[in-house]
Amino acid sequence: MNNNPLNTSKQYRILFVCLGNICRSPAAQGVFQAIVDREGRSAGFVIDSAGTYSGHQGQLPDRRMREAAARRGYQLTHRARPVGMMDFLDSDIIVAMDDANYEDLMHLAPSVEDSRKVVKMAGYLTTRSISYIPDPYYMGAEGFELVLDLLEEACGNLYASLSE
Ligand code: 4NP
Repeated sequence: MNNNPLNTSKQYRILFVCLGNICRSPAAQGVFQAIVDREGRSAGFVIDSAGTYSGHQGQLPDRRMREAAARRGYQLTHRARPVGMMDFLDSDIIVAMDDANYEDLMHLAPSVEDSRKVVKMAGYLTTRSISYIPDPYYMGAEGFELVLDLLEEACGNLYASLSE
């Protein structure tokens, strides 16, 4: 496979995207980073995240998400930033957390070829029939745990798909 990062010296660039870039996408970034670190593949990947809404620019992830992630061993230190057209040039794959993120990214894509880089995170879930990663911002603590459960499964399957 041409874009298999395990068969090439080129770094594979993954961008996770949600709305605020303070809950789901920085968590996905941390979960995926932990997988490649554990697999000894850190040098093969550049992993980043961004949001379709710029209102939280510069902020650390939401404290509730940082604390829930830390309990599972993920230290989330990303600073929120808005996604931009240049991200399509800088990424091999762009992973949207929900349908609104996906549609926003499709509109932002500078070309049809670039729009093909956009995929849905929930497309990598195999044990649950849920079509999007729910926004935990207005949920209780269980919402953050659910998001982390979903991201751990989806990121594991995404990594496996890139290793095929
Ligand atoms: P995220 O969650 O998209 O997973 O980062 C949200 C964060 C902030 C807001 C909405 C969702 N907000 O409306 O400020």
